[in-house]
Amino acid sequence: MQEITDKAHTLLKSRYLLEDVKSHSLESPEQMFSRVAVAVGNAEKNYRTHQSKSFWEGRFFELMRNYLFLPNSTTLINAGKPFQQLCACFVLPVSDDKAAMDECMRVSAMIQENSGGTGYDLSGLNPRGETTLKGESYKGPIDFIRQIDSLTEIIMKPGRRKGANMGALHVSHPDIEEFVNAKVSGSDFQNFNISVGITDEFMQAMFQDKVFELIHPESGEVIRKIPAKYLWKSIVRQAWWNGDPGILFLDEINRHNPTPSLGRITGTNPCGEVPLLPYEACNLGSLNLAKMVALPFSKSSFINWKKLGETVNTAIRFLDNVIDVNNYPIPQIEFMAKGNRKVGLGVMGWADMLIRLGIPYTSNEAIELASKIMKFIKEKSWNASFDLALEREPFPNWEKSIYYPMQPLRNATCTAIAPTGSISFLAEVSPSIEPLFTLNNRQEYQLKNQTPQSLNPALESILTSRGLYSKGIIDRICAEGKLKNIPGLPEDLKELFKTAQEVPFQIHLKHQLAFQNHTDNAISKTINLPESATMTEVDWAFKMAWYGGAKGVTVYRNRSKEHQPFESIDGQ
Ligand code: CDP
Repeated sequence: MQEITDKAHTLLKSRYLLEDVKSHSLESPEQMFSRVAVAVGNAEKNYRTHQSKSFWEGRFFELMRNYLFLPNSTTLINAGKPFQQLCACFVLPVSDDKAAMDECMRVSAMIQENSGGTGYDLSGLNPRGETTLKGESYKGPIDFIRQIDSLTEIIMKPGRRKGANMGALHVSHPDIEEFVNAKVSGSDFQNFNISVGITDEFMQAMFQDKVFELIHPESGEVIRKIPAKYLWKSIVRQAWWNGDPGILFLDEINRHNPTPSLGRITGTNPCGEVPLLPYEACNLGSLNLAKMVALPFSKSSFINWKKLGETVNTAIRFLDNVIDVNNYPIPQIEFMAKGNRKVGLGVMGWADMLIRLGIPYTSNEAIELASKIMKFIKEKSWNASFDLALEREPFPNWEKSIYYPMQPLRNATCTAIAPTGSISFLAEVSPSIEPLFTLNNRQEYQLKNQTPQSLNPALESILTSRGLYSKGIIDRICAEGKLKNIPGLPEDLKELFKTAQEVPFQIHLKHQLAFQNHTDNAISKTINLPESATMTEVDWAFKMAWYGGAKGVTVYRNRSKEHQPFESIDGQ
């Protein structure tokens, strides 16, 4: 069993462990995993299975306690509570209708009070300033964002994670320019990610330097025509400036929509890894790839495919169970979530896996392995979902899905790669499929009373085994956060431990695309760029993402937001 360090324990205590009114923990980390395993195991009662409920509870506990797999934070926090909201990802419909707007606010508040996040497609809102039949003015998409942003701020409780939101706007909406420029400074709408929903038609118009029509969402009238290239440049400039907006490639998303007859997908959850229909929800969980390496840090290290396959199998069952035991904020969401039974199994610890295998993140070998690993995970998760379809039933909308009649599945989607911002910290591995951000863990997570600084444990172990460990070297690495400028260290180590800012953006994208190729939903990945990156590089990154078949893309140029959450020491 993995030792639970003080750092992880501090986070567990501040957010996850049940506590009394005086904030005293009522459970140990083991008891937390047991609470989750029992709550999720309860779904077994609904079905006739070969194994007993306690067998599955035991398997779920083992997976979590050994950090082979963790469900998303919302499941860890809320399992076993009277209102058991275990999903973190929702998409709600938005319209100008007053009653519908009030309902959207009410449900958003419920979701966020229970540590979930919400995405909204704002494209149906009338343009700002246009007059209603009653002579009032429509407030438009930006005002909607403002309202939800304030709601999130009000709902935030100390010690709990703040809710996150995603606002998407179709590229042909008349307010698109205002939307693109909505986040001027890093402090604007801090609880919102914003994304422009881009179509292939727009991309063609941009490449051919044509004008693009902005269309009224209600009447379908052409309101204005603007050069597509001009709009594209505004998106690139803003993203270069402070990371927002990101882009959603709507046609690529819909080429993989498992239930097109239920509607076109135009929104995603807050971090973008799950494209969803209005009222859909998805629950996430992540495999810890670092734990799948046998004989780590040695020349004989290898991937334990059997262990990975078995973990996927149990994890899919776990996530499918979550759908049944989950409490949904409103019946419409329950209906949609149980109709499609989407789950999103992803990964964390990818960079750590590569280090344990001695493969640099920047190498072709890493990209090939990314493809191989995710293909394996996708196949195993589809096998598990197929077995569950036979044991339980296919998802209720299966007959309306692209899988019918050839491929019975229990879940309309099985895989999604989430950022794992908190759970990777609990498991003490690199987040999601990102490279290491820094080699000095000091600033990786802002917690009170955190140990002031600590070296990346993998690096520490390699330095020790190669006789390179000295106080001078460690102090220097801790001060700089990377190996690049430290004399006396071998080149192969410098290559193996390249940090996010040192990895070229093309490599970031190649990892995203390699994983995306075998992921049912999408990937939450930041294309990190050094502060010196140019707008041309952002322009390339976006175009490469579209050519490569990404469902979305987000860039982040170092220091471009005033209050960036992660930061290397010298900002390079
Ligand atoms: O690591 P953890 O399970 O806490 O979450 P994550 O992988 O970083 O984020 C997964 C999803 O949780 C996001 O895409 C959001 O839907 C939701 N989330 C949220 O609502 N609020 C946050 N502050 C962070 C995540």
